[in-house]
Amino acid sequence: MKVDVILGLQWGDEGKGKIVDVFTPHYDIIARFQGGPNAGHTIEFDGKKFVQHTIPSGIFHPSTLNLIGNGVIIDPFIFMMEIDKLAEAGIHAEENLLISNRAHLILPTHRMLDTVSESMKGQSKIGSTLKGIGPAYTDKFARNGLRIGNLNGNDFMERYRTLKEMHFHTIRSYNADLAGYTLDGLSFEAYEKKWFEAIDRMKTFRMVEGEQFLNKSLDEGKSVMAEGAQGTLLDVDFGSYPFVTSSNTIAAGACTGLGISPHRIGKIYGIFKAYCTRVGSGPFPTELMDETGAILRCNGNEFGSTTGRPRRCGWLDLPALKYAIMLNGVDTLIMMKADVLNTFEKIKVCSNYKIGGEVREEFPFELSDDTLEPVYQELNGWNVPLNSIQSFDMLPDQLSEYIRFIEKGTGIPVEMVSIGPDRVQTLKK
Ligand code: GDP
Ligand code: IMO
Ligand code: MG
Repeated sequence: MKVDVILGLQWGDEGKGKIVDVFTPHYDIIARFQGGPNAGHTIEFDGKKFVQHTIPSGIFHPSTLNLIGNGVIIDPFIFMMEIDKLAEAGIHAEENLLISNRAHLILPTHRMLDTVSESMKGQSKIGSTLKGIGPAYTDKFARNGLRIGNLNGNDFMERYRTLKEMHFHTIRSYNADLAGYTLDGLSFEAYEKKWFEAIDRMKTFRMVEGEQFLNKSLDEGKSVMAEGAQGTLLDVDFGSYPFVTSSNTIAAGACTGLGISPHRIGKIYGIFKAYCTRVGSGPFPTELMDETGAILRCNGNEFGSTTGRPRRCGWLDLPALKYAIMLNGVDTLIMMKADVLNTFEKIKVCSNYKIGGEVREEFPFELSDDTLEPVYQELNGWNVPLNSIQSFDMLPDQLSEYIRFIEKGTGIPVEMVSIGPDRVQTLKK
């Protein structure tokens, strides 16, 4: 069997969590391959709403196994909070959850370092979620990191203290003012205590060699879906650098983040919103700073699932979408939040970029809002609610036309359209 991949094609928050949950009944295993608690994946069903940060979005189906892959970084405190929230709703995640031994830990000092690093950047700050993502991945690549598999080692405490001391040394060298600094409302010491309590609880979870487990499962004919976090335009290599996250969010990240060969990759599903959003700093060519942007934010409830920050909103950006499709080798597109455009008479789509007076289609090296001007095409809106629509053939003509326009522009079929946050508000071709 092959590993199908589901990932975001924009700046994150495309609706990956919802679609992974919709697909889960068709898979034996759901495996998260990168990112950490910077992610917020929302799943809604039966009037309930959950936001997953570390735990894969397949957890709501007890017969499917969920794996946190080696490419993910885990904050035990946040992880245990997620576990407790699920338990309150009667979901016992420990029964169908596995954690790779090779996944790295986010230490309390990684979160401190994130805050210090952002404040040192001043105006050019990234707008990080401040969950310690950059510093934890930095330690992974600098070969300083602590991994899940180290938790039971005799030298764990010693390694923890050494790394923590190194972090404090760095923080002191920045001359950072950390007076009044808190982590989730707690002092450093109080948070650190809770972090260790969470580690003790985590030790009772099933830790595996994720790569061995997955490859063996595939050999046995099990079906696997890899769940991406963030989005292609936040990829550390190909996104709008330096305003990106610190991992490879693209399909290739599924290989390194799970320990599977490229030969084992099956279908690649690319998820995009019918418009664009971005949270945090960085260029955003189609951003709407006007009333229209405010309507998109309001209709789409565009506030960060992890930080609650308002998301910046704008029209769909085809050059960026095509770039993302190319990088990932997307086979099938899934369009989200079509309902958010319900009230528009006219809808714009950016079909090209104008850079230095020249019209071009390619995503440039520097995506600069100062030098780049989007070229728009205008389409008719459908201007009707979609609540009662139950199949693709019932879609209003203008929405079908919008979908055809995207299919023609990208050369990839849109095989699913989402018309609301609930699991059931999903139309398949
Ligand atoms: P993810 O990070 O990609 O999983 O996406 P988020 O959960 O951060 O953000 C997507 C938001 O849109 C969540 O609040 C979802 O409940 C919501 N959502 C998903 N699909 C739809 C849809 O088709 N229509 C509307 N209105 N909301 C949706
Ligand atoms: P999901 O998986 C949207 C953004 C942050 C910031 C930049 C770097 O829910 O789609 P980081 O904390 O990684 O150092 O932040 O990336 N960002 C996201 N934006 N959705 C996400 O995840 C994001 N994860 C990080 O806002 O601009
Ligand atoms: Mg999100």
